[in-house]
Amino acid sequence: MSDASKGLIIITGAGQRVGLHCAMALQQQGYQLLVTYRKMTAGITALQQAGAHCIVADLTQLDSMAAFIDALAPYPAIRAVIHNASSWQADLPRAPAGSGQSLSAQLQHDAAVFDAMQHIHARAPYLLNRALLPKLLASSDGADIIHLTDFVASVGSSKHQAYAASKAALENLTLSLARQLAPKVKVNAIAPALVMFNEDDDAVYRQKALAKSLMAVAPGPDEVLQTILYLLHSNYITGRILPLDGGRHLKLP
Ligand SMILES: NC(=O)c1ccc[n+]([C@@H]2O[C@H](COP(=O)([O-])OP(=O)(O)OC[C@H]3O[C@@H](n4cnc5c(N)ncnc54)[C@H](OP(=O)(O)O)[C@@H]3O)[C@@H](O)[C@H]2O)c1
Repeated sequence: MSDASKGLIIITGAGQRVGLHCAMALQQQGYQLLVTYRKMTAGITALQQAGAHCIVADLTQLDSMAAFIDALAPYPAIRAVIHNASSWQADLPRAPAGSGQSLSAQLQHDAAVFDAMQHIHARAPYLLNRALLPKLLASSDGADIIHLTDFVASVGSSKHQAYAASKAALENLTLSLARQLAPKVKVNAIAPALVMFNEDDDAVYRQKALAKSLMAVAPGPDEVLQTILYLLHSNYITGRILPLDGGRHLKLP
């Protein structure tokens, strides 16, 4: 059961994997959890049974975001917002010469990927943080904004360029908001490299991904949870991008 005195934590996109793990653990530690999801999952049912408030929201749609913000009316204060919702969309392959695809079609397809990445990773956190600011400032224990970004925000990506650029935008928002909101609200990002595989990742992909870091493991979502707790318990860390990457920055050729 949650203890309202530990405060309300919002996690976006908590129906599965990292978000679900963190939401369940924080709920068990006595926070009141409020999460968003798009697809109903067994994880959402379990969170509801554990006492979390689960709200369906597509954070790329302004109407849906507004309905989500309206649903927060009963809560006077927010202890933390964790921006976890994400979509790992690859850039589209360029159409081969002579394929007949028009320039206009190519531009529209590329723009759709770019806009989708910016909307979920940069625009949604920007809008939500601004809308939720009065409730964050109302938290008597101080408050945290935590952005889940990605290792590729600092090094780029050959196949996920729009994704990497959108996570870099989110890291930049971390800096601006930290400057604006200190000392009442701490604002930080966690930048993971590999945390966990997708079910359909094959053995070759897994081996290649593991070999990219010094630690050579997929550490699992509890590493993210421990980093979130570290930030929640800190009275001093703000405006930082915390690498969670197994030493990947040192795995040089
Ligand atoms: N897993 C890793 O190894 C890894 C590595 C680097 C960074 N990260 C970052 O860590 C975070 C968690 O990773 P993960 O692997 O657990 O992510 P995930 O499995 O892809 O889950 C992301 C969640 O975001 C939700 N979501 C997507 N689009 C949404 C939208 N428009 N509105 C609302 N919710 C939306 C999804 O809900 P639906 O399924 O219902 O659409 C899903 O539950 C992400 O920010 C990710 O970028 C993860």
